Amino acid sequence: MEVIIQRTSRSASAYAGRLVSRLLQEKPAAVLGLATGETPLALYKEVTGLHREEGLDFSNVTTFNLDEYLGLGPEHPASYHFFMHEHLFRHINVPSSRIHIPDGLAKNVPAFCEGYEKAILDAGGIDLQVLGIGTDGHIGFNEPGSSLASRTRIKTLTNRTREDNARFFQSTEEVPHHVITMGVGTIMDARHIVLLAFGERKAASVAAAVEGPITAMVPASILQMHPRVTCLMDEASASQLKRADYYRWVFQQKPDWQQP
Ligand code: F6R
Repeated sequence: MEVIIQRTSRSASAYAGRLVSRLLQEKPAAVLGLATGETPLALYKEVTGLHREEGLDFSNVTTFNLDEYLGLGPEHPASYHFFMHEHLFRHINVPSSRIHIPDGLAKNVPAFCEGYEKAILDAGGIDLQVLGIGTDGHIGFNEPGSSLASRTRIKTLTNRTREDNARFFQSTEEVPHHVITMGVGTIMDARHIVLLAFGERKAASVAAAVEGPITAMVPASILQMHPRVTCLMDEASASQLKRADYYRWVFQQKPDWQQP
């Protein structure tokens, strides 16, 4: 796990933007795994800017989103379809036929989930997966206790996550109880995982994920078993890391050829 602590979420997001940009230069038909929520917003602004100003090309890119609320259609302002269109897709040139987001209105959820897994495989697997982290250590919507081998499926949100996400709705009661989410195993199949974490409220889950024991009680801790994870965080979310100075030192020594 590479832990990169930046002074601000903005500089961390700019770094993540360069990782995406480098990937697309090396592999124009890359497959991106995408997250929603507050965390990746600055990254999406960054890549939108790279597209607009430097011509970063998404015309051959395929995308798969991590999750969607069950019961919300694409027109619902709190749906992840709406979010992605608003914050990323309408600003770049990714063809809509290459965009995949779990269907919150799927009639047959298990069949949909099986098809989603197959679509990821058919696309050649995910090259770079963007992740945020929940205050309870979830990735995607794999809440504590999720099987570390899980695949795309329905999950029930914890009340903590529903409360955390109530800010995107009128009230907590409106936050759906169920979601479709890629599984932990699905996420772990990505070739490169970029975990973003910003703000004091993520400090405890970041410390548990990066330096704690691997446990299904902190689903993000399984990332310790992945061969290529880049954790990009700001000072506030890194504030409970015991080895923060070491991570800073390693980053300062990073050879130029490893920089994006
Ligand atoms: C969103 C997702 C979630 C969020 C996490 C953090 O697609 O999969 O795991 O990344 O809940 O949310 P924010 O960024 O809003 O703090």
